[in-house]
Amino acid sequence: MKKIERRKSDHIEVTLKEKVVPDYDYWSDVRLVHRALPEVDLDDIDTSVTLFGKRLDMPLVITAITGGFPLAMDINRNLAEACAKAGVGFGVGSQRPSIENGDDGTYSVVKDFDVPLVIGNVGAPQLVEQKGKRAFTIDDVLRAQEVIGADIMAIHLNFLQEVVQPDGDVNAKGCLDGIRALAREGPCMVKETGAGISRETALMLKGTGIRGIDVSGVGGTSFAAVEMHRAKGQGNGTATALGLTFCDWGIPAPAAVLEADVGLEIISSGGVDNGLRMAKGLAIGANAAGCARAVLAEAMESSQAVLDKINEMKAELKAAMFLTGCSTVDDLRMRRVMIGGRTADWLTASED
Ligand SMILES: Cc1cc2nc3c(=O)[nH]c(=O)nc-3n(C[C@H](O)[C@H](O)[C@H](O)COP(=O)(O)O)c2cc1C
Repeated sequence: MKKIERRKSDHIEVTLKEKVVPDYDYWSDVRLVHRALPEVDLDDIDTSVTLFGKRLDMPLVITAITGGFPLAMDINRNLAEACAKAGVGFGVGSQRPSIENGDDGTYSVVKDFDVPLVIGNVGAPQLVEQKGKRAFTIDDVLRAQEVIGADIMAIHLNFLQEVVQPDGDVNAKGCLDGIRALAREGPCMVKETGAGISRETALMLKGTGIRGIDVSGVGGTSFAAVEMHRAKGQGNGTATALGLTFCDWGIPAPAAVLEADVGLEIISSGGVDNGLRMAKGLAIGANAAGCARAVLAEAMESSQAVLDKINEMKAELKAAMFLTGCSTVDDLRMRRVMIGGRTADWLTASED
């Protein structure tokens, strides 16, 4: 197995087997206000939204997980099939292997299904030169977009992971210009990978012409934790220490949704594993929710298992909408929320 394939396979195995989420539950800090008199019929609730110009049956995107090695074929096929059936968005994992070695079918499999919103994926670190590695060109990225027929390209920010990972890609100067250049060519969004987006970063990104931000904040999969477990297995003490020290580094997911509210479309993600958490993100301003780890075990199993999980989330979202008296997702976005705990501390401190 090549080094990059081993890494991707490790990421999946570690995410499924080890503890990779923080102890503190930031989504519990956000509470919707119960309406004892909903004045809406459950069956009339409409969960559909428009995201990046595409109609979704519910405000959900399965965000980037994988691609580029044999196991990814089943995972991406199962995810794409379920997303097509459920009418939700789907983002493939980093397309770096397909740019470097050509498509192996594990990304283009998404084209076999009628997914309403397909999101491509490339890393911001690959937009600049790294030690011994050339920067991807605009043509590289456009080709990757074409391979899967992506409606929009996501550029991921993963510098927490890169700094923990031995020999990570840690040249970050020039990424903003790279993002700006890509955004000139076609629809782009930017996503974090578990450490969240601050207001300052969101404002920098807004200036590039991107369409949206997937905040991917602290509360869900921590790539510092994932890399820590990998490093431990490889006997790399420094990387293990780095991962451990930084495993809850970043902006809590709900705070990131509020911080990133700079007038772009927002995906609320990081530990969103049920429909109530989806509802909470929407109520504090997101246009849709995103999840990865919550469907990973199901994606290894079958498309039906993924679909069942999505439908479960939909039922929970509808229950939350019902109990807050919302007929539409727009109604939910206007509802009052109570924010306490460490998330409130974060928001208060950021006002000072
Ligand atoms: C196994 C695994 C692989 C991932 N690979 C990518 C990737 O290639 N590109 C990317 O942008 N994000 C990647 N992510 C990050 C997710 O898209 C998401 O931002 C993050 O996991 C937080 O969401 P969660 O708490 O629902 O897992 C990956 C996540 C997991 C669990």
